[in-house]
Amino acid sequence: MKAQLEQIRANALEKLQALNAEQELEELRVRVLGKKGELTGILKQLGSLSKEERPVVGQLANEVRAAVEAAIEEKRAALKAAAQELRLQKETIDVTMPGQLQEIGKIHPLTRVLEEVKEIFFGMGFSTVEGPEVEYDYYNFEALNIPKNHPARDTQDTFYINDNILLRSQTSPVQVRTMEQQKPPIRIIAPGRVYRSDEVDATHSPLFHQIEGLLVDKGVTMGDLKGTLEVFAKRLYGDEVQVRFRPHHFNFTEPSAEMDIMCFGCGGKGCRMCKGEGWIEILGCGMVHPNVLRNCGIDPEEYSGFAFGIGLERIAMRKYNINDMRLFFENDLKFLQSL
Ligand code: DAH
Repeated sequence: MKAQLEQIRANALEKLQALNAEQELEELRVRVLGKKGELTGILKQLGSLSKEERPVVGQLANEVRAAVEAAIEEKRAALKAAAQELRLQKETIDVTMPGQLQEIGKIHPLTRVLEEVKEIFFGMGFSTVEGPEVEYDYYNFEALNIPKNHPARDTQDTFYINDNILLRSQTSPVQVRTMEQQKPPIRIIAPGRVYRSDEVDATHSPLFHQIEGLLVDKGVTMGDLKGTLEVFAKRLYGDEVQVRFRPHHFNFTEPSAEMDIMCFGCGGKGCRMCKGEGWIEILGCGMVHPNVLRNCGIDPEEYSGFAFGIGLERIAMRKYNINDMRLFFENDLKFLQSL
């Protein structure tokens, strides 16, 4: 039995030398020291020995167990250290290496200009409302004093879902929706997408953006309209900007006007940018037509108001000096990052 024990020890220590994975180490431990292991097998047989032999063999067995256990622990520590060393080598970080450049995105120019416009009107006590892009013919035209077959519809041809439902061609229907729900005083802007069945070119797109404005209260005059929109133009383009109002026609306002700003390019003399005009059109506006107020249940004898519609792309083009509106929709990074 003594010889067997020595054999177990010698065997185990030799195997330990050779092995180099934790898994194998555990297998060895079970084979030698486990419940059904070689050493345990010997210990079970101690009973069959004589009284004199039992303590001697027992002691030797304990020595072998201790020796094997110690050798296994030592090997385990060595394997761990080796693994750690390997990891440290693999994970070395060269702190002198140049970093990876993170590309930082930017807010789209249209969004930026919209935010600016909103801030300007918030500063004058307006708040934002929204309306649906899929709209009833009634709100987009009829309630705005544009009956079926009226020629004013020709310039706003859009996409029809059916005879009564369409993609809104302007943000003006939000005026009607707001006046139906809210009684004066009203002071809102309504930004959003609008649609027209236009061919794409430098100044047209089937999808673009408008910002509608509406103010209704007692005693509102054309003077209020001019003052408000002039302040808007100066905040947006700078105090030196000059504005002018030209008579125009919109079905839902009376009187109606368009507001121009003096061309920055030529200071009013006429150049390529303003097509020789000296002035650049910025928005449409007017005093809310009594019929529109009546359609919304507001008494035009008691209340009056003004409205305006700004083309977001158009003012962004002026602001960034761009002459092709397609640039806003093409997502060309070179262009977007240049602004
Ligand atoms: N909705 C008009 C358009 O798309 C723009 C407009 C003009 C809006 C005058 C208004 C306004 O609110 O008063 O051409």
